[in-house]
This record gives sequence, C-alpha cells and structure tokens, in this order.
Amino acid sequence: MHYANKLVCSNWLVLAFLFGSTAWAGEVTAARQVSYQLDVYPIIQSHCLKCHKTGGAGFEASGLDLRSYDNLMKGTRHGAIVVPGNPVASTLMVLIDGRADKSIRMPHNERPLLKPQVEIIRDWIRQGAQNN
Ligand code: HEC
Repeated sequence: MHYANKLVCSNWLVLAFLFGSTAWAGEVTAARQVSYQLDVYPIIQSHCLKCHKTGGAGFEASGLDLRSYDNLMKGTRHGAIVVPGNPVASTLMVLIDGRADKSIRMPHNERPLLKPQVEIIRDWIRQGAQNN
C-alpha cells in the first residue's frame, strides 16, 4: 500500500512534468511573427549590403540591390529570389543554406550566417515575406 502510493505520486510527477514541458514546447514552437525591419534587415545590413548595393560586386554581377524591401523583392536581373510562403523554393534560402554550388554560397566567400540568422530569414519567408 505504501509502495502503491509512492507509485501514484511519482506518476503524477511524470504527468505534471510531461504536461508542463509540452505546454512550454508549444509556446516556443508557435512561431513568433518575424519582422522585416527589426529582424531581417539588420542581418542583410551587416552581412550582404557591402556587396549588394550600387558599385558592390554582388550588385554588379547579379543586379541584386538589398538596400530596400522593394528591391529585395524585385530580386536579380533574372527575377525574384523570394517566393513568399515558400522558403524551399526561394533562391535566397538556397544560397544562404549553401544548397547551391559552394562558389555561390552567400555571403560570397565569407563566413556563412549563423544558424539562428538563417532561421529568422526562413521564418520570415514562411510567414509571407511581408514588409513589416
Ligand atoms: C563579398 C561580396 C558579397 C557578399 C557579402 C554577399 N554577396 Fe551575394 N553575390 C555576390 C556576388 C559576386 C554574386 C554573383 C555570384 C555569381 O553569380 O557568380 C552574388 C549573387 C547573389 C545572389 C544572386 C545569385 C543568382 O541567382 O544569380 C543572391 C540571391 C545573393 N547574392 C544574396 C546574398 C545575400 C542574401 C547576402 C548576405 C547574406 C549576400 N549575397 C552577400 C557577392 C556578395
């Protein structure tokens, strides 16, 4: 009897723990709204802009100017690099994930973005790539 009580107790503890942790995980994975201005642009500014503005090597080679949301959405001279809602099909993600040839991984010939930075951009595209 004494034993059984103990078991019941510890089961409750396990249940409480499981419940608590799923509630917590739910909160974390419920994607927060990513902001272009607050979250995405600062990454572009520090890792892409020096080459992707008038006169920069990336701009000269591809026509991609990353100084504004409108220009980012316009893409290169071959067309859009962001497909709103679809990070997998977005050239932008292909290049920063390094899924294309290593020679055109972005940032070009520099240290890749950190994983959390890549995920911010991915979430922003998944959430519709808004000018928010
Ligand atoms: C050191 C300079 C440099 C930096 C920094 C840089 N790029 Fe580039 N980028 C280039 C060059 C050069 C090309 C042309 C590559 C080619 O086609 O051979 C290019 C091309 C591109 C293209 C077009 C590829 C295509 O399909 O033609 C995209 C998209 C791109 N860059 C995104 C980015 C992003 C996003 C960042 C920041 C995370 C970034 N770049 C940082 C130099 C740079």
